[in-house]
Amino acid sequence: MDISKPAARPTNPRFSSGPCAKYPSFNLQQLDSAPLGRSHRAAVGKDKLKAAIEETRELLGVPAEYHIGIVPASDTGAVEMAMWSLLGARPVTMVAWESFGAGWVTDVVKQLKLDATVKTADYGEIVDMAALDYDTDVVFTWNGTTAGVRMPSGEAIPARRAGLTICDATSAAFAQDLPWDKLDVTTFSWQKVLGGEAAHGILILSPRAVERLETYTPPWPMPKIFRLTKGGKLIDGIFRGETINTPSMLAVEDYLYALDWARSVGGLKGLIARADANAQAVFDFCAANDWIENLAVDPATRSNTSVCLKFTDARITDGAAFAKAVAKRLEAENVAYDIGAYRDAPAGLRIWCGGTVETADIKALLPWLAWAFEAEINA
Ligand SMILES: Cc1ncc(COP(=O)(O)O)c(C=O)c1O
Repeated sequence: MDISKPAARPTNPRFSSGPCAKYPSFNLQQLDSAPLGRSHRAAVGKDKLKAAIEETRELLGVPAEYHIGIVPASDTGAVEMAMWSLLGARPVTMVAWESFGAGWVTDVVKQLKLDATVKTADYGEIVDMAALDYDTDVVFTWNGTTAGVRMPSGEAIPARRAGLTICDATSAAFAQDLPWDKLDVTTFSWQKVLGGEAAHGILILSPRAVERLETYTPPWPMPKIFRLTKGGKLIDGIFRGETINTPSMLAVEDYLYALDWARSVGGLKGLIARADANAQAVFDFCAANDWIENLAVDPATRSNTSVCLKFTDARITDGAAFAKAVAKRLEAENVAYDIGAYRDAPAGLRIWCGGTVETADIKALLPWLAWAFEAEINA
């Protein structure tokens, strides 16, 4: 079948899974208000950093007794800082169902050389989280960005547990409900769901995580960039905006504007509703077309941010080449940038559906997907 090009294009063709699209009203000029060329330790810098922390707390509903810090090296920095600082005190369970979770397994098993219990699932599947021993420390990813598989809820995690839960929530925070009572360490980066600038990570600690930090010293060397305690006490300043090293005040300003925008669309509830609507449009498209499917096998685990898709048409002989060619056609038409599957993931497409993406743009993209599929089949 030959189909002609759809008449309308998405207004914004940015569907990358990170850095993600800027929020719709983003405007570079407004960043003029950033205190550039000033010390981040001056009152003006500290106030901005403190505001970023407190507004994050308010928007995400983080309990008052949890600590929130801005840390270096994006989400990776936050996760590694947590693992290096906390692990080793008790047995560890590492959980992975896609590439980023697998990276944390490598860190713990090969670098920290801990004898961890490792539970993995294939791309599209999820580990049985209810079967884990939560008296061990458990490290997992809430939303597997490269598989499009997410935790359906925190139900599987017991509220009372002896171990800590360390959760990489970078493509979940601001798009999915995070049950704070089930999470001892939560991390994310600004470049994800709110479309902020890369560089910084957010590290959220429960009182039990802080207690571990203050009562346990890991046996391995700790670079300055990972140090959260001094003399056996939490360095409180980090959680008031006194960052370990120099932050980008431009990135901070950008994050503050992104938080403003998030509030303007109804806060967390509004952001979740936007991501849900975007993802639903893609799910409906898959339901209506028998040549494309969600990579997530169980509908309850389908991500509403990093929606991963696979082609199922029997005429396709080289899946990877086919998916690449489709993504290339869409990019060449300025219809969709960066929607090829992640390099370690099964062949297919990945369409970012987080709240900064407009549903109208997702809906405008989908007919083009059908066009590119047919064009590539014909080719
Ligand atoms: C689940 C997950 N973890 C970690 C990362 C790494 O994030 P960053 O590059 O912000 O360190 C990503 C980035 O895509 C991710 O999706």
